Amino acid sequence: MEQLLTWLQHGLGKGAGDTAQSWSETLLGSLHFWSLLEGTHLLTLMLFVGTILVVDLRLLGVIFRRTRVSLVSEAILPLTMFGFAFMVITGLTLVFAKPLFYYHNIWFRLKMLLLVLALVNVWVFHSHIQKSQGAWDAEPVPPGKVRAAAALSLLSWIAVIACGRFIAYDWFACGKPQSTFINAVEACKASEEGAYSLQGKRLN
Ligand code: HEM
Repeated sequence: MEQLLTWLQHGLGKGAGDTAQSWSETLLGSLHFWSLLEGTHLLTLMLFVGTILVVDLRLLGVIFRRTRVSLVSEAILPLTMFGFAFMVITGLTLVFAKPLFYYHNIWFRLKMLLLVLALVNVWVFHSHIQKSQGAWDAEPVPPGKVRAAAALSLLSWIAVIACGRFIAYDWFACGKPQSTFINAVEACKASEEGAYSLQGKRLN
């Protein structure tokens, strides 16, 4: 993994000559492209989570109680899909600019884990809970298991957002004195910055 990411960051697209840069380094060093990407990531995130919020609040019986759940979700789902697609594309491009950094970042790792869990919740909802939708579609307040799935969905996306925001802070960065737990979770020994104990002793 380390080798693949090192190649992605420093090797891919690198021409001849001492000053030549890889595509990843060019992207990171670009004056406006990085900010444009992160801005787009955030805007599409707002579209994605904003539309999910509307559907989840309807499932919780908080808003649009007199409108069928199917009417609300069918009107909104295309926007959710559009937001998600752009968010994933911009997210992966952001990772391409600093793959080694993100790979060794605890918040990024946690964010990816929570993202998978949030998607599993979406899958469970569509494959199991939604099967009985005919029975509660018009209900102002849907049954408990539907509301539980909606609450879990909201919590999981909020957790993904929090982890995404925390990536920008270097509290747990490799190369700084960290606990054994953080050094292990982030695989700091294999990182370019290395692993340091809380006493400042280099561990690799
Ligand atoms: C495959 C999917 C995704 C990837 C690869 C990805 C990757 C990234 C990367 C690399 C950053 C930049 C972090 C930095 O250096 O500051 C970022 C920021 C962020 N992401 Fe994602 N992301 C993905 C999906 C999501 C999702 C689903 C959400 C929320 C629902 C989300 C929320 C955020 C937030 C809130 C930020 C912080 C922006 C800021 O600094 O203000 N991301 N993401």
